Amino acid sequence: MKGFEHLDLDRDHRRTLQTQLTEQLKVMVQQGELRPAERLPSTRALADELRISRNTVVAAYEQLESEGYLQAHERSAFTVGAAARAFARPRQGDAKPGQRVVGPPRTLIAPRPFRPAQPDIHLFSLKTWNRHRTRVLREALLLQYQSRFSMGLDVLRQNVGAYLQESRGIRCYWDEIVITGGSQQALFMVGQLLLDSGSSVYMEDPGFPGAIRAWQQTGATIVPAPVDEEGICLPLPMAEQAKVVYATPSHQFPLGVCMSLARRLELLRVARERELWVVEDDYDSEFRYNSAPQPSLQSLDEHRRVIYVGSFSKTLFPGLRLGYMVLPPQLVERFARLKATLEDHGPLIDQATLASFLESGAFDSHLRRCRRIYRERQQLFLDLVSRKGLPLRFPVTGRGMNLAGHFVMETDDARVGAALEREGVDTPALSSYCSQARCSGLLFGLTAFTDAEIRMGIEMLANTLVRSVEHKRGR
Ligand SMILES: Cc1ncc(COP(=O)(O)O)c(C=O)c1O
Repeated sequence: MKGFEHLDLDRDHRRTLQTQLTEQLKVMVQQGELRPAERLPSTRALADELRISRNTVVAAYEQLESEGYLQAHERSAFTVGAAARAFARPRQGDAKPGQRVVGPPRTLIAPRPFRPAQPDIHLFSLKTWNRHRTRVLREALLLQYQSRFSMGLDVLRQNVGAYLQESRGIRCYWDEIVITGGSQQALFMVGQLLLDSGSSVYMEDPGFPGAIRAWQQTGATIVPAPVDEEGICLPLPMAEQAKVVYATPSHQFPLGVCMSLARRLELLRVARERELWVVEDDYDSEFRYNSAPQPSLQSLDEHRRVIYVGSFSKTLFPGLRLGYMVLPPQLVERFARLKATLEDHGPLIDQATLASFLESGAFDSHLRRCRRIYRERQQLFLDLVSRKGLPLRFPVTGRGMNLAGHFVMETDDARVGAALEREGVDTPALSSYCSQARCSGLLFGLTAFTDAEIRMGIEMLANTLVRSVEHKRGR
């Protein structure tokens, strides 16, 4: 029986034949040997092949069905469940050197549960997007060099400005907005213009590794600033030549806390007094499920010390690579020069399409839909965690794309995270985001995964956590 000949059941093992079979079939799904919608051998055929009772195969298939790996059909037929697409591994390309390859890239990967910060791209209407794209392409000059638009197309900057004013209380003129290649490019530009090897930058600890990566490049000293339940702690540690402070006030990455109003005002006061630039990374504030988000830090800033950074990677899709930055007026000229040098101008067809998408209201309805579905996914996840009695506590819920789960007892989160990774579950350890801070837990992204994928991920999580507790007790 092709593909199943290497199933290896040991009758003398302390684990039952059913458990062994279930585990081995699961691995075949996780490793992409069995692909979504692929049909499994009939229970009778597999039982004959393995010389075991048919009931054992039926029980194994049913167990895998309850975990979301398989789907049952009429007359006891089973196929691999759609949720398993999260595991579908790309097959290696087989092009020879110099050979042209036809077809889509083969090494694209889908995020596996529970990879943080991934939007569900299947909720996005490409049909609507393409309608806007076709319309804007009536203007053929979008295909030309348009160096005048190095900061982004005017229409897009204006529409982004209107959206930010309405949703986040941002106060600015549209020509203080720069359209960037995602937030990551914005952070990179901040580093290039405001930091150098003689300066320091305050970074939330735990904090966003992308910002650290962008700024390590400059040779600046990264100074960890602790975070508590009100956000980044003040006073900031003393640091030579401190120029920049990075914060995620709406939804601290990765812990999820929201910066209190008192702390926001104090941070702005410190920034003014010490002439610091505050980078406000507002990466997922659109996703608030039970209440409106707090207004942005930028909207409270009378002295224009805040550089506001945002992205369409989470609200639309990351492959778009479009983000934005709202600059204090005193920085606009310098950023404009750097942007023009960096890429002359950004992708104009996508920018024009996005401007039209924003203007038409399609963006708002997409966000509303995502918000509703993401809220349900977060709730399902929390219900399952509590039903399974998993040893994790979630102090901040009801917002964002990720949930930080803290272990209720002392646990080596890096070891658990690595064990989960081997099982196909992508939940980074909270300690991996820490510099000097101490935390132990896992970061769960829930937005990109269907209910079935969430159920399946939770099963694997539960099994791994049980094994890790047994391991600790030395069984
Ligand atoms: C806190 C934070 N900031 C910024 C980004 C980067 O987003 P972009 O895709 O726009 O570069 C991410 C992505 O996960 C993030 O989590």
